[in-house]
Amino acid sequence: MIPESFIQDVLARTDIVSLIERYVPLKKSGANYMACCPFHNEKSASFSVSPTKQFYHCFGCGAHGTAIGFLMEYSGMSFLEAIKDLAQQAGLKVPEDDAPPVDRSQISSLLDAMGRATRFYREQLKQSPKAIEYLKQRGLTGEIAARFGIGYAPDDWQGLHTVFANDYDSLALLEAGLVIQNDTGRRYDRFRDRVMFPILDQRGNIVGFGGRVIGQGEPKYLNSPETPLFEKGRELYGLFQARQAIRESGVVVVVEGYMDVVALAQYGFGSAVATLGTATTATHIQKLFRQSEKVVFCFDGDNAGRKAARRALESCLDQLADDREVRFLFLPPEHDPDSFVREQGLEAFHRAIHDALPLSEFLLRELRSGLNLATAEDRAKLVHEAKALIPKISAPVLQLQTIRMVAQDVDMSPDEVSQALGIRAPAHSKTAPRYAGRRTAPAGPLRQLLRLLSSQPILIGALPADTLHLAGDGPEAGILQVFLDAHENNGFSASTVTALFEACQDEAQKNVLGELLQASDEGRAEEKAAKEELDGHITNLRIALIDHELAALHQRDRQGGQLSTDEKRLLVTLPAQKQALRAGQKIR
Ligand code: CTP
Ligand code: MN
Repeated sequence: MIPESFIQDVLARTDIVSLIERYVPLKKSGANYMACCPFHNEKSASFSVSPTKQFYHCFGCGAHGTAIGFLMEYSGMSFLEAIKDLAQQAGLKVPEDDAPPVDRSQISSLLDAMGRATRFYREQLKQSPKAIEYLKQRGLTGEIAARFGIGYAPDDWQGLHTVFANDYDSLALLEAGLVIQNDTGRRYDRFRDRVMFPILDQRGNIVGFGGRVIGQGEPKYLNSPETPLFEKGRELYGLFQARQAIRESGVVVVVEGYMDVVALAQYGFGSAVATLGTATTATHIQKLFRQSEKVVFCFDGDNAGRKAARRALESCLDQLADDREVRFLFLPPEHDPDSFVREQGLEAFHRAIHDALPLSEFLLRELRSGLNLATAEDRAKLVHEAKALIPKISAPVLQLQTIRMVAQDVDMSPDEVSQALGIRAPAHSKTAPRYAGRRTAPAGPLRQLLRLLSSQPILIGALPADTLHLAGDGPEAGILQVFLDAHENNGFSASTVTALFEACQDEAQKNVLGELLQASDEGRAEEKAAKEELDGHITNLRIALIDHELAALHQRDRQGGQLSTDEKRLLVTLPAQKQALRAGQKIR
């Protein structure tokens, strides 16, 4: 875990404007900077970066965040990766974690070697009619070959000597996996007479290669070994090139092979990526969900494909959310995506993606497979099998839905199935609100209050003592509590909100904070007016609470619930209180 203070240090030393400027050309406009939003397609600029708040916000698509958030969203880094990246740029040393320290100079010399090798392979491709002919015969144009940086490693034991004349024996070439050293200490090229596919990380660095034999031969593909740059379970081939298309189409398709990605792009389907001959890992899934809410796994129609799909299913269950969608596409047994799109065309591939099997249905199909549900034993077996999968589903509603599907299959009630799976039945929270237990404050007036406080922190001192009590226990109340604490401890200022945003673990709170950051300097009021505004918000909050309580009482009354004498009295006194509050507002 990175300490919160370090995150604040990193943010304090980072200028979001110059960070974003490196990726997106910004134009000054008033106090802010504007650009066309990198997160959605648009013609006029609605993406705004605020140097004072160190925050970006798109008025078009609603994307917003800090420098950390920008890196995560733009380049698909994880939180930790983004922090590390910014820390390094700011010259800060990330507090020791368990991972061994990364040797920056080693990394940069390996990257340099990879870059030089890629240029060499591409140069060699131009000079190899045989390799060019092979790519043509697989239907690729020069344009697509260039887009993926495809090259050719010549049939030569020391081909890289040409570019690394004096450095051929350098440690970098060996550590980058480009050359191999035999028992006698002699070094030679790893890749010979192969079509070379550079593997890019999410920043566009070349971190590895896949090399395919031309025509027949074993092994068909030879990949870079794991190096300090390259970890197979983390990278997705083609992700760097696919980002734009993924954003535009709202879907990312995961296929099995290099050629599948390239051929799909050739036919106009740019949102495909491939795992690198390994199972889909949790890291892969995280990366995918960071790019798109919808992921379609597309596997070959053979047995291996089905196994791979099962692994992918298992890896993604605990990363699901009810607004995320995962589907599985199984191609006919004789096809992989490359041959499919070539034979059936782009439209057919689009249709197949659209009609792909939803995760829930694939899951049920897996559970049912090989069972005869006419027998009690097999129905029990199905529930038993489900125990390994359904409790892992992190999307609450989808979990409930799959439980129902299982329940139908095995002729049990959903509650019985939940119990057998060890899943606690969800609390019946949506029944009529009970007056006595009410702790949810209406979010609207509370948010307005928070908005005012974050732009005029001094007003925190002017809050009535019962404000926190009025706030209930929603995310807004949590934030109010944090504001009050910050005010008491070390003074609360507008920039605190930005830091709080990054420190915040709670998604609901984070959403509210994000909204505050966007709104905090719209219509900043004079201080005297601000105090009046504050009182107004507090009164609105009190009125809204009364409305909320009245609604709950009326609802119970209508539903025939027995109201106590006290509660009946409230039906009269609450409206009177409300009137008094309104009147007080008018007098002021
Ligand atoms: N793979 C590998 N090593 C092998 C074979 C395959 O790493 N010896 C990985 C590669 O990433 C390859 C993927 O598994 O792209 C899929 O393999 P396969 O289906 O055999 O290859 P295709 O992508 O269909 O390749 P091609 O169309 O070029 O035959
Ligand atoms: Mn193929």
